[in-house]
Amino acid sequence: MSLSREQMLVEMGITPIWVLRDNEPSAPAVEEYEAVAAEPEARVPTPEKATAIVQEPAPVARPAPAAALRPMTPVDNLNWPELAKQVAECRACPLCEQRKQAVLGVGDLNPDWLFIGEGPGAEEDVKGEPFVGQAGKLLDAMLASLDIARGNRVYIANAVKCRPPGNRTPEAAEMAACWPYLERQIALLKPKIIVLLGKAAVHAVLHDDKSLASLRGKRYEYAGIPLVVTYHPAYLLRNLPDKAKAWEDLLFARRLLREASAPELPF
Ligand code: URA
Repeated sequence: MSLSREQMLVEMGITPIWVLRDNEPSAPAVEEYEAVAAEPEARVPTPEKATAIVQEPAPVARPAPAAALRPMTPVDNLNWPELAKQVAECRACPLCEQRKQAVLGVGDLNPDWLFIGEGPGAEEDVKGEPFVGQAGKLLDAMLASLDIARGNRVYIANAVKCRPPGNRTPEAAEMAACWPYLERQIALLKPKIIVLLGKAAVHAVLHDDKSLASLRGKRYEYAGIPLVVTYHPAYLLRNLPDKAKAWEDLLFARRLLREASAPELPF
């Protein structure tokens, strides 16, 4: 079943659907936009208007822990099938003891977008694919609202490949043990934009533990790739009003992707 863009926005909770009003004097302020998004009866701006009101942040460059600046590890030379095999057999941290299987990721191996979540849950542990539960349904709706779908221009991975028992947040040491795999995935995938979903992904990639609210809305870079931070879909399921902020973040990411993909002018 393929859902329409409107159905996807309904699924994301950004409803009623974006209504274009004639003679609209000016775009609403961000605060107003958030207020109407939280209030189902109110009318909300069109997505294009929403694009216009996304805050323009000052670019923030964060030094990435580049492979070139540290001693080489065996993972640095793996091709994709070798990496997949090594992840499947990994025993680098205690998470391997209770997993059913390691979950490498899913999607297009030549993606524009790379979404990075936290770690597999119970359903992902069984299926061997990230984001297949409720949070995954919302993630799929978020992707569809951008006119993309898992497997097509998108790759989805996690900060850790094995399920933390009881779906707890992965510990820093577990994310550190898994980092070489994610780092190699990014190097092989070469996405044009990276979206970090939630605090664990931010910790794993940016090594930053500040609040999501303070981190989102800014452009970061990882190894020269533009990167944005947004809320984890599981958090959004519990905090519906913040879906509007996640939508802003996705529009911002799409704008960075388009900028990154635009041909350079010859001057
Ligand atoms: N949450 C995540 O962060 N990743 C998954 O794969 C599933 C749920």
